[in-house]
Amino acid sequence: MREFDLTPLLDLLPELLAGRPLVVLTGAGISAESGLPTFRGPGGMWEGNRPEDLATPEAFARDPEKVWRFYAWRLEKLRAAKPNEGHLALARMERLLPRMTIVTQNVDGLHAAAGSRNILELHGTLLAARCTACDRRFPAPESPIPPLPRCGACGVLLRPDVVWFGEALSPVTWSAASRAAEECAVFFVVGTSSVVAPASSLALLAARGGAYVFEINPEETPLAPLAAGVFRARAAEVLPAIAAALVRKIP
Ligand code: OAD
Repeated sequence: MREFDLTPLLDLLPELLAGRPLVVLTGAGISAESGLPTFRGPGGMWEGNRPEDLATPEAFARDPEKVWRFYAWRLEKLRAAKPNEGHLALARMERLLPRMTIVTQNVDGLHAAAGSRNILELHGTLLAARCTACDRRFPAPESPIPPLPRCGACGVLLRPDVVWFGEALSPVTWSAASRAAEECAVFFVVGTSSVVAPASSLALLAARGGAYVFEINPEETPLAPLAAGVFRARAAEVLPAIAAALVRKIP
């Protein structure tokens, strides 16, 4: 296992053990090692695909089949994927600490599959579809597209149960996430380019509230100046090292 200097983080452990919360914001990078592509950068889903054509309500109104084919492709990859050491380490940490929340931009359900329980999914989930008329939710389609999936109750077109560009996040989920960020003692930002609002503002809310922000990302991001500590490494190597250190330190 690669060694990291965890001293600045472990110095904050007494606060966490006293019941101050840890909040972990995750993005596509944490699932990269489960074989799911990220969005930006070389090989990312937005390389050669425009989000305006695949991830907006207007794109869906224009060409629902094209949008559904994109989500069906992502679902197929997801169904072959498993949580990696990064997801598993976060689940282990949640069992060790009195208060921890994961706020994820990911729609892949891999935190829950790893055993994490306190999860806020800011951008919805790939695993469900929702009726465009009556809002009822159904499991995401298993069969190839076309045919387009339709509501079992009213027969109207279903859409992926995700948040698209130009849409508001669920107010309940967002208010829980922003409150968690404002109240926490330590805030991890893991595997996100920190360029998509409003998720990107959570680290700022946390820092303003006095939290120590730690970034885990092999690449530089706009967040770095805000961070009390930066681990320029993969989530699946840093998070297990942190979880192992907690196991050693917590009686
Ligand atoms: P991005 O693709 O923008 O960023 C992924 C980040 O993960 C990059 O900063 C990478 O350097 C980093 N990364 C790659 N491999 C990693 C690893 N093994 N460990 C840690 N970090 C790694 O993905 P997000 O920031 O999640 O929204 O994107 C935010 C939102 O933009 C998504 O939720 C999605 C997208 O468009 C919608 O579709 C609405």
